[in-house]
Amino acid sequence: MRSLIDILELTTDEINELLDVANDIIDNPSKYSEKCHGKKLATLFFEPSTRTRLSFEAAMYELGGNVLGFSEAQSSSSAKGESVSDTIRTVSCYADIIAMRHPKEGAPYVATMKSRVPIINAGDGGHNHPTQTLTDLLTIKREKGRLNGFTIGFCGDLKFGRTVHSLISALSRYENIKMVLISPDELKVPEYVKEEILDKKGIEYREVTTLDEVMGELDILYMTRVQKERFFNEADYLRLKDTYILTPEKLNSAKSDLAILHPLPRVNEISVAVDDDPRAKYFDQVLNGKYVRMALIMKLLEVR
Ligand code: CP
Repeated sequence: MRSLIDILELTTDEINELLDVANDIIDNPSKYSEKCHGKKLATLFFEPSTRTRLSFEAAMYELGGNVLGFSEAQSSSSAKGESVSDTIRTVSCYADIIAMRHPKEGAPYVATMKSRVPIINAGDGGHNHPTQTLTDLLTIKREKGRLNGFTIGFCGDLKFGRTVHSLISALSRYENIKMVLISPDELKVPEYVKEEILDKKGIEYREVTTLDEVMGELDILYMTRVQKERFFNEADYLRLKDTYILTPEKLNSAKSDLAILHPLPRVNEISVAVDDDPRAKYFDQVLNGKYVRMALIMKLLEVR
């Protein structure tokens, strides 16, 4: 039985296979409509979500399966003091697979030790978000036709942004990728990501504080929200939250085939006026998330 806690648990061949299956689902949805008939997915969300929870649920329904779960800890017995371990032992008696989001880093990993069924990490604190990474990789592959040979800029909250950490890990295994890390000093990529991933893999990267100075060299711009919920004090959040706001004017110096990604939710960091720009791909990303989660559910349930 296999779970997915960290994107690096999947080999590049497995990732490529998942992306191929997701593309085939997009082209031939009816082929997959009964693949998970009789199976149940539990979505256990101890932290808010729109896209991840609902795309998992839509994914399971589109595979012919069923869904149960909760969307906030307060509506489960964890509000009465039940531990994550006991919750998982319980829910794994009812479901065939579990997608779990939790504010504590490592909680989904702990869950794997108590579960009878596969666990999918749907985001753990500021740590990892592997299914968002699969979503991002599918979007890059569909937009660029490849997963190598490009320059990607990560912009915003690179300290707490778990999607950034997971995507950096995944991309570090592909060839000839340059990374530009754009953030205020307080929100730089954590040292462990730089030491364990970027330095170890010899990835070419540099850190800058303004978007304007690098816009023209980017093939992909990965914008992120400043993660209010992970700040210890409100004053710091208020000071940093609007550091980067992408507007149509700022895109004047960008490449004509730039792909603008964002895991969403967006707050202020991308002006809505950018949404009509053909380079804005963040709502395509949302749709891709459902298909790649369908592929992942099938893989972990060993459905062919
Ligand atoms: N991208 C993402 O994780 O969005 P949600 O928080 O809405 O699930």
